[in-house]
Amino acid sequence: MLCLHFPPLLSKDDFESLRVLGKGSYGKVFLVRHKDTGGDKLYAMKMLRKEHVLNRWRLKLGDPEVLEHVSHPFIVSLHYAFQTPKKLYLVLDYCPGGELFFHLSRAGRFSEGRTRFYTCELLLALEYLHSLNIIFRDLKPENVLLDEHGHAKLTDFGLSKEGICDNFSARTMCGTPEYLAPELLDSKGHGKAVDWYSLGALAYEMLTGLPPYYTQDRNLLFDRIRRAQLQYPQYISAVAKALLQGLLTRQPESRLGGGPEDGAEVRAHSFFATVDWQALYQRVVTPPFKPKVAGAGDVSNFEKEFVDMPLGVSEADGRPGAGVHFDGFTYQGE
Ligand code: ADE
Repeated sequence: MLCLHFPPLLSKDDFESLRVLGKGSYGKVFLVRHKDTGGDKLYAMKMLRKEHVLNRWRLKLGDPEVLEHVSHPFIVSLHYAFQTPKKLYLVLDYCPGGELFFHLSRAGRFSEGRTRFYTCELLLALEYLHSLNIIFRDLKPENVLLDEHGHAKLTDFGLSKEGICDNFSARTMCGTPEYLAPELLDSKGHGKAVDWYSLGALAYEMLTGLPPYYTQDRNLLFDRIRRAQLQYPQYISAVAKALLQGLLTRQPESRLGGGPEDGAEVRAHSFFATVDWQALYQRVVTPPFKPKVAGAGDVSNFEKEFVDMPLGVSEADGRPGAGVHFDGFTYQGE
């Protein structure tokens, strides 16, 4: 990818919004069509409110800083980035399979084979990010998408940190409570091992249908993450349980993947004994599930609540943070 900071740069007017794919406190994700390509090129355009970015990221990390350095088969690619006075826009690969957990909520839980497949692809993505000294930190159901073939793709680098080399240097408390490693709860400082904990939490949820220590009481959840004994249903095989126990180990130094070999240590676990990592990386392993995608603009794998939303994009927003220019937040990848 190439970073260009000279005209002609694209703007939001080069894209026609077709549908809303998602919405949160950050802003919205739209399915968009690149007008110049005659309509056949679809992307997901993430619109972020600057005030949200300022609040959460303390004027530091916009996605492009992280994403423009990243190219991996199981990570959503950034194609363009631009801004208006109040908003930041990221134009990303569109993943028509929707969120992995859209499918998990319908299936209830996944088989060990299917869980292994997604866990392996995500493991490679995390190991790659770690090789760039990026901690993902925000691995959670909403951040794993499926492409049209059924391969996993990580998205949302809002909380990623660059330049972290050990297990104790990043001190910002963030992330989704259910998936937070214990060292993140206590803001003790953390490193790459937090991602192996989150991968374990994700695998646990895929296998059982619920995240580890699940409760709707946030304080109780924090308490359980710190000290409760985790329950494993009977149907989980011994080797899968061993993997989960390794990844969900509280002490980051003792956690599977917490040693100097990072992801290689996780890959060596017997749960992955049958995996051809080369073939997996090359995307020649057939996914266990192919999302139903009727046509290029089919959004049936996204929540109806979003795709039925009106498109209305308004620039009218006068709260603090709006109007600030983000230097370097312009990117054209192709
Ligand atoms: N690419 C990046 N974010 C996406 C999303 N939320 N849905 C589909 N594709 C995406």
